[in-house]
Amino acid sequence: MSDDPRDDRARYDQARYVENGQYEPLLSEKDLTRVEIGGDGDEDGGSPLPDELTRDSLELPALSEPELARHYTRLSQMIYGIDSGPYPLGSCTMKYNPKFTEDVAALPKAAVHPDRSERSTQGTLELLYRLQDYLGRIGGMDAVTLQPPAGAAGEFVGIRVAAAYHEHNGEGHRDEVIVPESAHGTNFASAALGGYDVVSLPSDDEGRVDLEALEAALSENTAALMLTNPNTLGLFERDIAEIAEMVHDVGGLLYYDGANLNALLGRARPGDMGFDVMHYNVHKTFATPHGGGGPGAGPVGVVDELAPFLPAPRVREADDSDSRSGEPTYELFDPEHTIGKVHGYQGNWLVLVKAFAYIARLGDEGLADASATAVLNANYLASRIEYEVPYGPFHHEFVASAGDQDAADVAKRMLDHGVHPPTTKWPEIVPEALMTEPTEVESKATLDRLAAAFNAVAAEDDETLEGAPQRTAARRIDQTDAARSPRLSWQALEDDD
Ligand SMILES: Cc1ncc(COP(=O)(O)O)c(C=O)c1O
Repeated sequence: MSDDPRDDRARYDQARYVENGQYEPLLSEKDLTRVEIGGDGDEDGGSPLPDELTRDSLELPALSEPELARHYTRLSQMIYGIDSGPYPLGSCTMKYNPKFTEDVAALPKAAVHPDRSERSTQGTLELLYRLQDYLGRIGGMDAVTLQPPAGAAGEFVGIRVAAAYHEHNGEGHRDEVIVPESAHGTNFASAALGGYDVVSLPSDDEGRVDLEALEAALSENTAALMLTNPNTLGLFERDIAEIAEMVHDVGGLLYYDGANLNALLGRARPGDMGFDVMHYNVHKTFATPHGGGGPGAGPVGVVDELAPFLPAPRVREADDSDSRSGEPTYELFDPEHTIGKVHGYQGNWLVLVKAFAYIARLGDEGLADASATAVLNANYLASRIEYEVPYGPFHHEFVASAGDQDAADVAKRMLDHGVHPPTTKWPEIVPEALMTEPTEVESKATLDRLAAAFNAVAAEDDETLEGAPQRTAARRIDQTDAARSPRLSWQALEDDD
């Protein structure tokens, strides 16, 4: 046997391939010979950089272009994304993001330095102004800020705006925010971070807001009720007009969590239902990819009474619009009682460009079609799967129960069947919840494929489920440990060996 270390390496890699067909070594492991880029890189022998910032050599693996191309292609194939297949992650609206929005964001003119003057960035300001307007009209809100960078950030801003409004009206004693127990965790967190006591509201037997419990929870201390509609079970809160009246009667505000807006687009508006403040999850509803927690955007819309408290600056049409061309001009302004700035400049600009492009391309009709198809797809899929679906009828998503199976095992096993699993174990009112949102972008054939994956897993035994996933790049990981103590460097892995 040769004692060349490269032979050992090759045998090791081969063994890992056999053990797990998706194994891919690091570039530094792939080739043990090194190209040395030596010297200090300066003809005079000295580097312009201080000594502590320079090194004598940089060792790089000697790999060819095809080896590099294959390495990155293999890595890209080890991940599952919306461009690889259906992604029915309930409440997340993981819809395909049309590539034309990326093209628009990549236009050279989109790369504007945010410190340029208002006069030289009229196009940018116009886009922001028109997006404020689009979102306002879609939500039935009078004024919009584009600054918050995520849904949760939008919630926090909305709660701070509500607090500033109450304070301004001499109602600073209001110290409670009511949140239904089926709500997303960020609702509780935003209310608590905003300085409020959180009052949790039980659901009724049909999975909707329990009106008697709401009556009991409301008081002169209520600052707001936060509601998702359709709620996290995909059910429309049909008593919404009565709920709005009850909250307003005690002087509280009604907050709309816009994460589920994809169910209503172009058909119903939170503002018309009586909501006073809402956030939009641009990265769910308006075609921006979710990715590793960001970047996203969570604009906040409010009714007129709350507009003076929105973050600064916002964009408006200037009074001195160009008198020669008759074209409007745009300017930044600080709302009168603003809560201040919550993000650099106008927020995540390129995310906003994509949202603008998407809304402009779809138009009113396209948006209404999207929500109708999202609802149709969810109901079709719900009718095809063999797991029990305890509540209904649904809007854009449904929650099935894995019954005697563990929902987390079901999720892992679905990966082996080649599709992304639904959200699991939430909301808790459905035991072993499988919260499923196929979105409007999937065809009937894909929905049938998804249903087949659900039904295949439903018929499998515990041993198979507990051993899943078998066919993915990484097998079952300790999710808690991965989230709490992630090891993000290959050196850490090497230390383990
Ligand atoms: C119902 C609901 N509200 C709020 C959020 C928070 O949004 P973000 O992830 O953008 O912070 C989510 C996210 O999944 C959600 O599903």
